[in-house]
Amino acid sequence: MAVIPVALAGRPYEVHVARDLIGNAAAQARAFIRKERVAVVADANARRFHGARLEASLAAAGIGVDWHELAPGEGAKSWDGLRALVDWLLEREVERGDHVFALGGGVTGDLTGFACAILKRGCGFVQIPTTLLAQVDSSVGGKTAINTAAGKNLVGAFHQPSLVLADLGALDTLPDREMRAGYAEVIKYGILGDAAFFDWLAANGTAVLAREPAALEHAVATSVAAKARIVAEDERETTGARALLNLGHTFGHALEAETGFSDRLLHGEGVALGMVLAARYSARRGLIAPADAERVAEAIATVGLPARLPDLGLDCDGTRLADHMRHDKKMDAGTLPFILLRGVGEAFLARDVELADVAAFLDEELAR
Ligand code: GLY
Repeated sequence: MAVIPVALAGRPYEVHVARDLIGNAAAQARAFIRKERVAVVADANARRFHGARLEASLAAAGIGVDWHELAPGEGAKSWDGLRALVDWLLEREVERGDHVFALGGGVTGDLTGFACAILKRGCGFVQIPTTLLAQVDSSVGGKTAINTAAGKNLVGAFHQPSLVLADLGALDTLPDREMRAGYAEVIKYGILGDAAFFDWLAANGTAVLAREPAALEHAVATSVAAKARIVAEDERETTGARALLNLGHTFGHALEAETGFSDRLLHGEGVALGMVLAARYSARRGLIAPADAERVAEAIATVGLPARLPDLGLDCDGTRLADHMRHDKKMDAGTLPFILLRGVGEAFLARDVELADVAAFLDEELAR
């Protein structure tokens, strides 16, 4: 088992990465259970696939489970979903010193984390992420949020979990497309800050996606360690260090917006193509060698993630995509910070990017 510390002053916690952590949840999370029953929030799929194992482990330790089940999908991350969850936790008389468990993907973790951030001004929670994307990204670092009519993740809080159990066995039942979408966030850590990890993934990405145990554990543990380092350095995204995690997200957000935040393009797929565009835009500005940008594109295309803009079949031009970026929540005093590359493994925050230039670049990419 890999145990990765997230070294936050005053509230450090651990991320455990191994198979069968859910089946051993009682032992793993004993320190965070102080009553005879525990509140578990789960999406319906996560409960169907993993609920019985979690319940059996806790039952063997004399602990019962009260389930709050969420319908699968982003819809749960809403004001209505938040109200229903908070009311349910209040009815159960969850106290500040208690821990609520979140079993599922990013939607479950984000909603549960935010409910726990505001319940009685803050109670504890334990993340049990069951998707690759949640294991390597959203369950670690304390960003919690819901979506509103104005956009995604616009209402939320920083609220760190007390423990993260990343059970690699949970990925056995994850659809291949979702596994690939999560892999985009894995390779992101290589592209943004770790050239050796990028090279390793270029050679072993297929093994990771095939869930070969050693490759998968190395990929998840290395990704979590990278995220833990960044979060410990810049928990609230104020120094620029954590902003590097947004590599590919500004381009990706525009693509997600243009495709209606639908199944046409999953978030991770948008990030994957967004990273290719960030690399190619960096090459266009003379920041990296075109060959390095193409290495990024190749590593993404090889595993079946989108790496070419025309393949999305969009009916729009670059200006329309750049317009989506104007509504990005990272917009800061009229400029949009972009994460660009000085090399593979060397991302930086650029504040001098003109959206008109990005639009011209996107026109070229659409015609590629
Ligand atoms: N997912 C980006 C972050 O946690 O900062």
